[in-house]
Amino acid sequence: MTENKRQFRAIKGTRDILPPDSALWNWFEQTARNTFESYNFREIRLPIFEETDLFARSIGADTDVVNKEMYTFSTGPDAETKEEAASAQTYSLRPEATASVVRSYIEHGMQALPGNVKLYYVGPMFRRERPQKGRYRQFYQIGAEVLGQSDAPAIDAEVIEMLMTFFKRAGLTRTTLYINSIGDKNCRPQYVELLREELRKVAELPPAGSKLGPDSLRRIETNPLRVLDSKLPEEQAIIAKLPRISDHLCDACREHFAKLKEELSVRGIAYEENWRLVRGLDYYTRTTFEVIAEGLGSQNAVCGGGRYDGLVELLGGPPTKGIGFAIGTDRAILSIQESGKLPQLPSLAVFVAWMGQAAYPTAVNITRKLRDAGLAVELPAEEMKFKKSLGLADKLGARYALIIGEDEVNSGTFTLKHLADSEQKKLSEFDLLEYLESERRDTRA
Ligand code: HAM
Repeated sequence: MTENKRQFRAIKGTRDILPPDSALWNWFEQTARNTFESYNFREIRLPIFEETDLFARSIGADTDVVNKEMYTFSTGPDAETKEEAASAQTYSLRPEATASVVRSYIEHGMQALPGNVKLYYVGPMFRRERPQKGRYRQFYQIGAEVLGQSDAPAIDAEVIEMLMTFFKRAGLTRTTLYINSIGDKNCRPQYVELLREELRKVAELPPAGSKLGPDSLRRIETNPLRVLDSKLPEEQAIIAKLPRISDHLCDACREHFAKLKEELSVRGIAYEENWRLVRGLDYYTRTTFEVIAEGLGSQNAVCGGGRYDGLVELLGGPPTKGIGFAIGTDRAILSIQESGKLPQLPSLAVFVAWMGQAAYPTAVNITRKLRDAGLAVELPAEEMKFKKSLGLADKLGARYALIIGEDEVNSGTFTLKHLADSEQKKLSEFDLLEYLESERRDTRA
């Protein structure tokens, strides 16, 4: 009987990050770590799944993320212990990490820590969205959050400065930063009501609401702010005439926003105001921001963030202010790749072309020494013909072939061939190590 051999493929919306792209990803994430740590942020590693309710309460039960996009599973029937079965839970793969950071802040009593708590995270998130360029079901974020007692606009500005500094260091320069203030619990409810009334009027205009799509018509009642986010061409003229939140902020929120803009100017950060930037998650108050990058088509937001001053309390913690952002790594990398401005990434330095069993121990030894010196070295496991060996070195993209044959073993020297121009040098072990180490320093510099 012939066995039906089934081939597996990555699930729709997920993908493999293969070399050499993975090197670019590592470099990008390392650049973020270095930048964030220079601003005194420290890494937090969080679980990939949490109670569903944590996300529902934080992000909002009426949002697309919670309503339609979470991967949720139950422990009920599979519970391993009686206790687990008794308290059957539903868990969800995290669609974002701010909720987890806040849960962790409360759980570990981080409010007792001195100063502001400044945390960053790097890792996968999961949303069941319709996959397209720049939109995946498993995607990656690099995020940062500041939690503490102060809501000084200088904190917002520093967080944004850190973000833009990182983008600059990562070569992501064709970007636009948009900022907005969506008010707080004192002024936003009145604005939302005003918006709802205006939208109801539009919906009732003959022909009944035809210019507003079904999503916006529904949102008039559930979440009118989200109508401002609409990209539908036929809705744009209507939205342009709606009342703007900037005209309805309370004094404290207006002052906070004005100060934020001042603080950004002090730091030389270019921004554009966008009164329609409301964001898709419910926890935001006051400052919201987004960064758009070129070369990405419709999924062009590479970062979203904002202030969430009430969230810690909402999740049962002490009164605490918070602000943060998350960068979409997949999209940021796409934008860097499309710009063609790629950084110098580690590559294969030396291919050890050894010939004859007598050369083998020397090859193994020198390979170890070169690797100890920090060089990437490929040592073929089996003897190869000289031509084939050099051909493979070339295909693997090695900078040098280190030739070790009978002559070299007898004379105690090595032949180093620079593959780009075929130039050869005969070197002692000492000179070889010194030469390659200095070359490595130069290429890194
Ligand atoms: P968000 O706007 O939902 O905010 O996501 C942040 C970024 O993640 C987006 O700008 C985008 O680059 C990326 N992203 C989101 N969904 C996808 C997807 N399906 N495929 C690829 N990339 C995606 C948050 O997640 C908030 N937690 C940010 C935050 C932190 N606010 C305050 N602190």
